[in-house]
Amino acid sequence: MMTDKPVVFVTGAARNIGLAVAKKFAKEGYNVCLTSRSEKSADLAAREIMSEYPGVTAKGYAMLTNDVNQIRETFRKVREDFGRVDALVSNAADPGYNQSILSTTPEQFDYVMSSNAKGYFFCCQEAAKLMIENGTHGSIVLVGSVHSKRALPNRIVYASSKGAIDVMNRNMCYELGKYGIRSNLLVVGAVYNDRWSCYTPEDYEKKRANWPLGMESYPEDIANAVYFLSSDSAKTISGSELTVDSGVMSVLLSYNKNWDAEKDEREKLLKK
Ligand SMILES: NC(=O)c1ccc[n+]([C@@H]2O[C@H](COP(=O)([O-])OP(=O)(O)OC[C@H]3O[C@@H](n4cnc5c(N)ncnc54)[C@H](OP(=O)(O)O)[C@@H]3O)[C@@H](O)[C@H]2O)c1
Repeated sequence: MMTDKPVVFVTGAARNIGLAVAKKFAKEGYNVCLTSRSEKSADLAAREIMSEYPGVTAKGYAMLTNDVNQIRETFRKVREDFGRVDALVSNAADPGYNQSILSTTPEQFDYVMSSNAKGYFFCCQEAAKLMIENGTHGSIVLVGSVHSKRALPNRIVYASSKGAIDVMNRNMCYELGKYGIRSNLLVVGAVYNDRWSCYTPEDYEKKRANWPLGMESYPEDIANAVYFLSSDSAKTISGSELTVDSGVMSVLLSYNKNWDAEKDEREKLLKK
């Protein structure tokens, strides 16, 4: 069944950035397909969206992005339920915490790479096939990370998986452009999510002191940027990278350095 409204497919959308993205598209009049690893979380999120945006149809699907068969099966169901996908937002990713070059096992490497790089790739493949079939001239937005652009300790596998996504974006721009399908990368950093509840107010202050804007971004900030890239306002933007990170990527590690103390020290040394 082909619905009249445009349809967005958002992965990892039961909470945080993915949920905010799904709600933004619902607000703009899209029907919503969303995924989570948990069927219950996916259903709850879909129901929350439909109660906030009456008139919108939202449906949740349980899907592991590290399982290509599940990705294909989910798109088969979406084809049956909605008949079309106009916008894909590939967002679900494993954060690959505490994995260093020296200690990462092949199993850990494969899990993060297949959840992220391979998962993004095959979601894009399925969405693109459906967009081409329907001639919907769709949009793909890949949610990337500042980690693919700047190194931090013990995130090497996650960072590499996001690097693969950066490259995928350029190649999809080229390969899919002739079908009217655009692909763009949103480079994301310093965005509040529910894991941050572990931080004390003092931790927050320390984090914010490292960010040029002195404040974190919120899932809604990311959702606005994703929607812009997917909308007609961006109809000639493809293969591009837009960064939403409170300015963090522009900064050297020593941003928080006490330059005044260094200046005083230098003056003392010069007087010697
Ligand atoms: N927050 C930041 O500062 C930040 C910075 C850089 C990049 N990002 C990127 O932004 C995106 C969203 O992150 P977030 O901050 O909103 O955190 P998040 O809640 O961890 O979002 C990722 C979602 O991906 C899903 N997921 C993880 N592994 C999966 C797997 N193997 N199969 C299927 N789904 C899986 C999880 O959904 P379920 O638990 O419901 O299954 C999870 O909610 C990610 O791509 C992340 O890399 C965020």
